[in-house]
Amino acid sequence: MAGENLLSALKWQIEAGADEAIGEHPMDRFAAPAGEPPARAPRAAPVGDQVPPPAHSPAAPSPSPSPPAPSPPAPSAAAPPPAPAAAGMAEPDALNAYQIAAGAETLEDIRAALLTFEGCPLARTATNLVYTDGNPQARIVFIGEAPGAAEDRQGLPFVGPAGQLLDRMLASIGLDRSQVLITNTLYWRPPGNRNPTPAEVATCLPFVERTIEIIDPEILVLVGGTAAKTLLARREGIMKLRGKWFAFETSRMVRPVPAMAIFHPAFLLRSPAQKRATWRDLIEIKKRLGDGPDAPSGDGS
Ligand code: URA
Repeated sequence: MAGENLLSALKWQIEAGADEAIGEHPMDRFAAPAGEPPARAPRAAPVGDQVPPPAHSPAAPSPSPSPPAPSPPAPSAAAPPPAPAAAGMAEPDALNAYQIAAGAETLEDIRAALLTFEGCPLARTATNLVYTDGNPQARIVFIGEAPGAAEDRQGLPFVGPAGQLLDRMLASIGLDRSQVLITNTLYWRPPGNRNPTPAEVATCLPFVERTIEIIDPEILVLVGGTAAKTLLARREGIMKLRGKWFAFETSRMVRPVPAMAIFHPAFLLRSPAQKRATWRDLIEIKKRLGDGPDAPSGDGS
């Protein structure tokens, strides 16, 4: 009987997403003194006094294959801070995330800031920060959704089954991880791989935008619906967004970056019939990159 109760308690925890041990030793939380804060590194000091402008401008689809016309950057000092309520997060977190991200000049600055950032509760349940993999000088950046179990264990994006398919998708257009930068919309694994909440997405967004600004790529590939909707600031789902060119821009960028959404490899593993459309999208991306074979080799399956 006691065993059955324990089993159903365990099942309940797994269904709720608590499927990974995050410490070496169990902790009796009822014994901890009330109000004791979780043991974490101190928050990174906010950088600068000014809150930088937030978000990128909503992306517009660009039907022509030519790169979007450059537009002058918005005056950053005059732009208002993000509306935290609209962004779905508490005001101090919103301001801190933008301030901290704005002060970063390199990906290593962002990684260091994320290691002590306390604005995203996912950091408390994740094993590792999962930030970037690949080449910081890449001409093309791939942005996925969020780390899964394998990524959480290794601290690297796209190293599980979906990542292996992503590697084959890259190879089909003559690319590998040494030529691209791979990152995510969220930097910590949501427990049990549940969908990220709008607040979690909003908290990471300043860091995602700053990462793109620092890399200054020629092409942005948004892998899956979460990345597409977040970075393009669009409501449509991935079925509508994929395969079209959009212009992604933030107020600190000197020119917009052409961005295309593609199906997520995890979705392709479940729905292989959609690979054909994805391979067409990859051909478009390769053409725009302009330096290789016209057609991908194979279907990456
Ligand atoms: N799926 C993602 O979107 N990102 C990863 O890093 C792994 C799986």
